[in-house]
Amino acid sequence: MRSLSTTQNASLSLTCTSTYVSHYRSEAQQKKAFMMKKFFTLALVLGLPFVFSSTVVADNTQGQGIYMNFCAPCHASGVAGAPKVGDKAAWQGRVNKGEAAMAALAIKGFQGSSGFMPAKGGNSALTDKEVTSATTYMVERSK
Ligand code: HEC
Repeated sequence: MRSLSTTQNASLSLTCTSTYVSHYRSEAQQKKAFMMKKFFTLALVLGLPFVFSSTVVADNTQGQGIYMNFCAPCHASGVAGAPKVGDKAAWQGRVNKGEAAMAALAIKGFQGSSGFMPAKGGNSALTDKEVTSATTYMVERSK
């Protein structure tokens, strides 16, 4: 049996080393890919509720629901001097004050020149945010 020449020997060990290095590298990459996958899954799980909550805010279903239940009794038909939703003239002067100012009055309640608006429409269980979203819903349909 003929022994390998020095060059052959050197190239053989070189091949072995590079195979080992590339194997080692790919394992590290696999590990990295696994970690990235884990990271994205985690990001997705943590991020999804935010995506859904922002969708809800965007189409304002919360504001609509609150309006229907707690504000429409007065604001749909203009009972007791309440500005009717959709009546641009009745809302014009109010809208000019800005939505935040209107929401603040709706939250605290107030006696205006046309009637009495009870705090939170008479339902103290509503949060400020809920009253604000109902105000936004009403104003969007009245300007
Ligand atoms: C009992 C009847 C009644 C209910 C229920 C009611 N409102 Fe009112 N609201 C009024 C009246 C009356 C006014 C007008 C007061 C005025 O300007 O004289 C008014 C005015 C407002 C205004 C205008 C504020 C401004 O700056 O002029 C907003 C906004 C408003 N209401 C929001 C709401 C929201 C939101 C709800 C439900 C959570 C609600 N209201 C429920 C009677 C009501």
